Amino acid sequence: MKIAILGFGTIGGGIEAILRDMPDVSVKRIFSRHVPEKFAAEASDFASILQDEEIDTVAEALGGVEPAYSYLCEAIRAGKNAVTANKAVVAAHYADLAALAAENGVAFRFSAAVGGGIPWLPNLERLKRADRPDLVGGIMNGTCNYILTRMVRDGAGFAEALASAQEKGFAERDPSADIDGLDARRKLLISANTAFDCVLSEEEIPAFGIRHIRPEDFAAAAQAGKTVRLVNRAFREPDGRIRALTAPAFVPLSGAEAAVWENENRIFVRGERAGLQSFGGLGAGRYPTALNLVQDLLDLGREKKVYYQKGFAPARLDDRGWLTRWYIRDLTGSRITEPADTAETAALLQARLAAGEAVFAAVMEEGSR
Ligand SMILES: NC(=O)c1ccc[n+]([C@@H]2O[C@H](COP(=O)([O-])OP(=O)(O)OC[C@H]3O[C@@H](n4cnc5c(N)ncnc54)[C@H](OP(=O)(O)O)[C@@H]3O)[C@@H](O)[C@H]2O)c1
Repeated sequence: MKIAILGFGTIGGGIEAILRDMPDVSVKRIFSRHVPEKFAAEASDFASILQDEEIDTVAEALGGVEPAYSYLCEAIRAGKNAVTANKAVVAAHYADLAALAAENGVAFRFSAAVGGGIPWLPNLERLKRADRPDLVGGIMNGTCNYILTRMVRDGAGFAEALASAQEKGFAERDPSADIDGLDARRKLLISANTAFDCVLSEEEIPAFGIRHIRPEDFAAAAQAGKTVRLVNRAFREPDGRIRALTAPAFVPLSGAEAAVWENENRIFVRGERAGLQSFGGLGAGRYPTALNLVQDLLDLGREKKVYYQKGFAPARLDDRGWLTRWYIRDLTGSRITEPADTAETAALLQARLAAGEAVFAAVMEEGSR
């Protein structure tokens, strides 16, 4: 297999380094702004990758939606398999990319886009062959988990914990996508789409982050024998309806999510037959993530396939009757709500956040119908 790598940063560089020792996959071209000498010729010419018939697969690690989306489409149309670590492009264009790949008879894989180095999506796909998942979720954002860890373990304030995450390279200079829950939501969307054969859109899943969390919120959680984690949940009801939420939650101290520390992830799936399974490990980082992408390449070498071989239909979120009890703290103090309609409460909270209010909201109790 001969591949081209798009983007020679943390992950693209990791992919190239891992493949140096692997005879089955060779890197023929690298497209990026800055590339090593060996690949410098035509490095900035994407068209030459498309025209190169020896290149059967493109590994994308540019990040962001554009130009990654256009390049992936062009590569697929040129008959090349597409493998990406880029959750932003997958979450934004899931259906188009999967359909285009199916149309062109090539593979579209994105294992590294959720859970970094954790072999989550390949195992979810495997489970799905013989079981019916009805819940996916867990802790999918290592940056927030690292910040929460610093606050609980070291008594740091939010700003100090965020600065530490940035210093360690876990958070970007603009940390909004992480601390507002958007990154976690993308990973939930991709996981739910894969688990339930549906196509959700980002905007319809309510997402809350930890931007406004304070030490007193941990104290409130502790009074209830709980702690705070940024948690993803997506359910498929027996009637096929799907509901999903990304939000901080008060999780039991004795539970699996409270046992996730530092920048680790722990992702769950519940299958009708398999019961609850979980997958943990490093949700980011050069070599863990690049390795997950390389595993996709090796899988392609064995068998060409896409995630959706049987086709898939757009499914809208439908969370009528889903009741949730929230902890809400604003400038006037904290309160715990009565169980209320999740979508309605989320919309009210989002309007307050959009108006610039410093509101911290966490799910106290998971909703039940
Ligand atoms: N880092 C992680 O731990 C991690 C984990 C899971 C998934 N991912 C995903 O992997 C992808 C890559 O992340 P990363 O951390 O490797 O990012 P990065 O270090 O910023 O690397 C991106 C690379 O792409 C190049 N690039 C970006 N836009 C370009 C353009 N329009 N034309 C040419 N070159 C371009 C950049 O060049 P310059 O440096 O010159 O700008 C850089 O070399 C992202 O989608 C990210 O979400 C990353």
